[in-house]
Amino acid sequence: MRFLAITLTTAALTAMLWAEGIPVKSQLVQDKCGGCHTLDSQQRMSRISYQRKTPEGWEETVRRMVQLHKVSLTPAEARAIVQYLGDQQGLTASEVDKISYALEQREDQEQIPNEAVRTACATCHSYARIAAQRRTKEEWLKLKSFLLAIIPTIVYQHRYMDWMTTSDEALAYLAQQFPLETPEWQREKNQTAPGETAWVVRGYQAGKGDYVGQIKMSVAADGSRQTQAALEFADGASTTRTGTGHWYGAASWRGNAQWLEGAKGREIYHLSADGTTLRGRWLGVERPGIAGEETLYRRDGQPRLVAVFPKTVQSGAKNIELRIYGADLPANVKPGDLSLGDGLKVEKITAATTDRITVEATVAADAKNGRRVVQVGTATAKDLLCVYDKVDYIRVLPERTMARLGGIHYSKQYVQFEARAYNRGPDGVPGNDDDLEIGVVKPNWAIEELYNAYDDKDREFVGSIDQNGLFTPATEGPNPKRYRSAENSGDVYVTAEYKPGNDAKAMKARAYLLVSIPKMRDTLIP
Ligand code: HEC
Ligand code: HEC
Repeated sequence: MRFLAITLTTAALTAMLWAEGIPVKSQLVQDKCGGCHTLDSQQRMSRISYQRKTPEGWEETVRRMVQLHKVSLTPAEARAIVQYLGDQQGLTASEVDKISYALEQREDQEQIPNEAVRTACATCHSYARIAAQRRTKEEWLKLKSFLLAIIPTIVYQHRYMDWMTTSDEALAYLAQQFPLETPEWQREKNQTAPGETAWVVRGYQAGKGDYVGQIKMSVAADGSRQTQAALEFADGASTTRTGTGHWYGAASWRGNAQWLEGAKGREIYHLSADGTTLRGRWLGVERPGIAGEETLYRRDGQPRLVAVFPKTVQSGAKNIELRIYGADLPANVKPGDLSLGDGLKVEKITAATTDRITVEATVAADAKNGRRVVQVGTATAKDLLCVYDKVDYIRVLPERTMARLGGIHYSKQYVQFEARAYNRGPDGVPGNDDDLEIGVVKPNWAIEELYNAYDDKDREFVGSIDQNGLFTPATEGPNPKRYRSAENSGDVYVTAEYKPGNDAKAMKARAYLLVSIPKMRDTLIP
């Protein structure tokens, strides 16, 4: 009897020590979700305590609880619940790094490491949507009945394969790959988000170009953050931007910002595991598809170089103005403190602050094609400046992409094309890895028919492109002017024609563009 009691106690102790699950300490979550998700003695709630996901993941779950299970929440309560769960049960910096491309809507070819997951799961949504979750084994396995219940046609849709068996394999793999608690989660979960901080930013907006600037982040009374940015483009134009936002956990920033000119953007940024660099993209609100990418470096007193404008110089160029941007650069720099690399000579420093140095420089006529190491005092950077002798070819980017019809019931999905010029690089052979990107050029833009269906005349219906490379798709819905009142969807080539000099031969390049129907259901994770 006594022996049995001891055994039981040890078993109970072991169970307690190994018990997984994240306690839910929020009274609001307990009140609003507790009706269906039971709370145990360790404040763990059924289902909820056994998953971790991105703020978008939590938002989708909460939306489903409202839409499918009739949970009643005010918008403020829903936001507070997503904030709490996003903070306490999110992904760490190193975990989110692997799937941030999907959240930031970067165009990317997904690498799916498991065949069963690829065929049984990534057929309806991205792999990232799955890899953006951490669950206990039991919670991974529950997904099968969940999917069968919400999509009763799932097996039929996958009738070319044995979905019932392959999904088991996929879920077993995921349970092993993405458990709820991991050493990195234990290590990183108690990190705190940046508070009052200053950042130097380098950004790029297709259609407008490179920019740099300073960003201040301050803490508002309600714990949210306010941002203020002063930005300067490579072409000299400047602007300001103000915004508000929230950190979810220590690493995920979600903000809303507005430029001086009125345009708005939604910021989806992720902090590096060492806390020094915040990287991500802002997505245009008025024109979906218009976006920019930014890297923010936290100002910590260490001298740092961030950009040189222009970022490419031609051999033989005399007395050109170069602006060198950075943070905490030495005061009172002399030409001797500066180096622009082989074949470049600083003639004089025309202006200098600790954030920005303007110089006049000359490039030797025989300077070799290639990147240069730029040095100011102790700060060096190797990717900020390059020398080229001539434009060898151009490319249209993105090379393959998709726009979406819209404008009546749904929003249009725009595409900003760019023509970029390249030099053959140090090896003298064009079309390989050492080629140098010289920058964006202004070509003549046009849309060309792609002959893959007889007489469909897609070129006349899909939309139009302006001379800055912005493609505006046509409206959705049947078009009586089209054969059998078809939609305006279709596929075409977008072509660019550019002359590097007045009497030079024109260079041509093209991209493939698919113009598809609108996105009917807006998911937060693709
Ligand atoms: C009225 C009952 C009800 C309430 C209240 C409720 N849920 Fe649920 N919840 C369900 C049901 C039923 C399921 C299983 C089906 C599903 O996943 O949609 C579920 C599943 C879940 C899951 C697992 C989802 C998955 O992907 O496996 C999570 C997490 C969750 N709920 C969170 C919440 C949160 C957070 C709240 C409070 C805002 C909440 N629930 C309130 C009924 C409820
Ligand atoms: C037939 C299409 C389809 C297939 C195949 C599919 N899913 Fe999904 N999945 C969905 C839909 C639709 C949702 C969104 C449910 C909602 O919230 O409304 C979803 C949601 C999810 C979610 C988020 C659930 C939450 O609330 O946190 C995960 C995780 C997921 N799927 C994993 C998988 C895995 C793993 C597989 C393969 C075993 C798979 N899916 C296969 C359609 C599919």
